[in-house]
Parts: sequence; C-alpha cells; structure tokens
Amino acid sequence: MNLYPLARPWLFCLEAESAHHLSLKAMDQAHRFGLLTGLIGKVPELPTQFCGFNLPNPVGLAAGLDKDGKHIDALAALGFGFLEIGTVTPLPQPGNPLPRMFRLPEESAIINRMGFNNDGVDACVARVKASQFYQSGGVIGLNIGKNAITPIEHASRDYLICLQKVYEVASYVTVNISSPNTKNLRQLQGGQDLLDLLSALTSERDKLSQTFGKRVPLFLKIAPDLDSEGIQSIADALLRFKIDALIATNTTLSRIGVENLEYADEVGGLSGKPVKQLSTQTIKTFADILHGEIPIIGVGGIITGQDALEKHHSGASVVQLYSGLIFKGPQLIKDAIVALQKS
Ligand SMILES: Cc1cc2nc3c(=O)[nH]c(=O)nc-3n(C[C@H](O)[C@H](O)[C@H](O)COP(=O)(O)O)c2cc1C
Repeated sequence: MNLYPLARPWLFCLEAESAHHLSLKAMDQAHRFGLLTGLIGKVPELPTQFCGFNLPNPVGLAAGLDKDGKHIDALAALGFGFLEIGTVTPLPQPGNPLPRMFRLPEESAIINRMGFNNDGVDACVARVKASQFYQSGGVIGLNIGKNAITPIEHASRDYLICLQKVYEVASYVTVNISSPNTKNLRQLQGGQDLLDLLSALTSERDKLSQTFGKRVPLFLKIAPDLDSEGIQSIADALLRFKIDALIATNTTLSRIGVENLEYADEVGGLSGKPVKQLSTQTIKTFADILHGEIPIIGVGGIITGQDALEKHHSGASVVQLYSGLIFKGPQLIKDAIVALQKS
C-alpha cells in the first residue's frame, strides 16, 4: 500500500528538516509495531554481486539520510539492497545553524548545508552493532569525514581515526571528500592531498585487515563539479591505490535548472533532478577511463526507475537514492529495482 502520496502534502507543510525527522520517527514506529513490511509489500528481487557482496538488489540508500545509524532496521525494511550510514566524524558536532535544508519541489530538488551534523563515530558504531540488519549480515557501508574544527592539513588524521573505529562493523568504508559544506574539504579531491590521504588510508586498511582477519573495501565519493583534468587525476589515484569502488556523485554547487526558484540562492549542495545530468556525465567519463577495473556506484538525481536504468547504462553497477525518496517515497526503491531488472 503506497501511503506516501497522502502523507507528502502534510510533510511538505513542515520545514524540511523537521519533516525529515518526523517521517523517520513515523517509519521507526511503523517498523516497531511490525506494520512497515505490510505497508511496503513485496520488494522485487534482483540478486546482484558487487565488490564481493551478495546484494538482494542493486538499490542502496545514499549517505546523509541516516547520519547516525538511528534508523537502520526500518530503512532496511523499505527494501534497500544495502545501506550507507554517515557521514560520521571522530567527534560529535552540531553541524551548521538551522535552517540548513531546503526543498525545491518544482524541480524535485534539495539544497542542503548540513555540515556533517552527527553524534560522532563511537555512537554510530554502537548503533550499527545493535541493529538487526547488521546482526543478520546485511551490507552496511560507513561513510567517514572530518570534523569542522580539524584543519584541512590534518584531515587524514580524522579519516584514519574513523577508519579504525568503523572497521569492525563496516561492510565497506566510504571516504567522503566531496561534501561542499565542510570548508576546503573538496581540496582533498586533487593533487598531493589526495595521494597522501589514499596512501595513508590504504596502508592503515592493510594493517587493520591483519588485525581483524577481514579486508574491508574502501570506496571514494566524489563531486559532480570536477573538470576533465580533475577526473583524470582521481581516476589515476583510484587505480594506483586499488580503491575498491567509486561513488559518483555527491551534491553540486551549480544552480543549473533551478535559477529562478525560491531557495536557489541558499548556500549548500544541490541534489535531486538538477544534479542528474552532471552526475551521469561524471559516471560516463569515469567509466570510459576505468574500463570496468573499478566499479561505480551511481547516485544523483534518481527520481524514477528510468533514471536508475540510465545510471546503469552510463556505467554504474549499482545505484543509491536520497532526494528521490523525499519526493517519491519508498515506492521509488521498487520502481528502480523493476527498471534495473530490464538491464
Ligand atoms: C540533506 C542531505 C544530506 C546529505 N548528507 C550527506 C553526507 O553526510 N555524506 C555524503 O556522502 N553525502 C551526503 N549527501 C549526498 C547524497 O548522499 C547524494 O550523494 C546526493 O544527494 C545526490 O543524490 P540524490 O540526488 O539522490 O539526492 C546528502 C544529501 C542531502 C540531500
């Protein structure tokens, strides 16, 4: 039963972040009383092998919706094939002042400048451990970042701390260097900074593999605002350090397609329909360079099943959703799986 079209007008009357918390709370309650699975109905199957994981389907939750791992079991019950939790940072931090999330419904878009608000990596790891989804072997990626107070020159320390702390519970770890809302973070996407960061993280991962007796894949998440030189240098680094997968993309700084809409001038990253082309083009360019040597997770502007299929045709092996869920509700997960069944 798809109740989301009925709930959406009420939710959209509320300020965006309040609506976000309210819907997640309602979803948790429905799950607690065993109602969610019935409401969602049967989720189509599309078993998919990705980076050594056996996924029930190739449609995952993108980072940022459940930053602290507070809603893992309810989100899993919606039918996602895998979940990405975070971004988490070593220390808890409040993020930017409110309001910091804005809906642009005319274009199925969101602008956010959350600024990695999160309870810190320790709290998140404890919640992951306590979840049924984790205990039953569900695939959970942990997306890691740096604290706002950490100078960018010391960013790799924060990523290393997070890697060490999430290693035990993470199915994979995503190194997020593409949020536009943490000062200078995107600087890590190029030059020596990127090489130093990936070198430090891959050698730490090798040590942790010995300690924990398991090799956790490392993924890199990048922006859709890179030029061709930037893309080439990231691709070289991915190959050099044998990064396990690329997540393309995060939100964009551009305002193409929303120029005249309310909130278009708000500072932050734009997601949803307007980022679709930029993200798909970024995936295509990486796919051409990487020749399948490093798999790609396609994310950015998937609002329909057809959009998910387009990402697949551009070179993405699996996809993730965020903004589409806000505008279409959980039915989008099923629509994406059904569309991908035709691939
Ligand atoms: C409100 C909001 C918060 C987000 N927070 C994060 C985050 O903490 N870490 C991250 O890697 N991406 C974050 N993202 C980016 C999404 O994971 C995704 O890459 C981006 O929104 C594009 O996909 P979409 O068009 O399906 O939303 C956030 C997106 C939104 C809308």
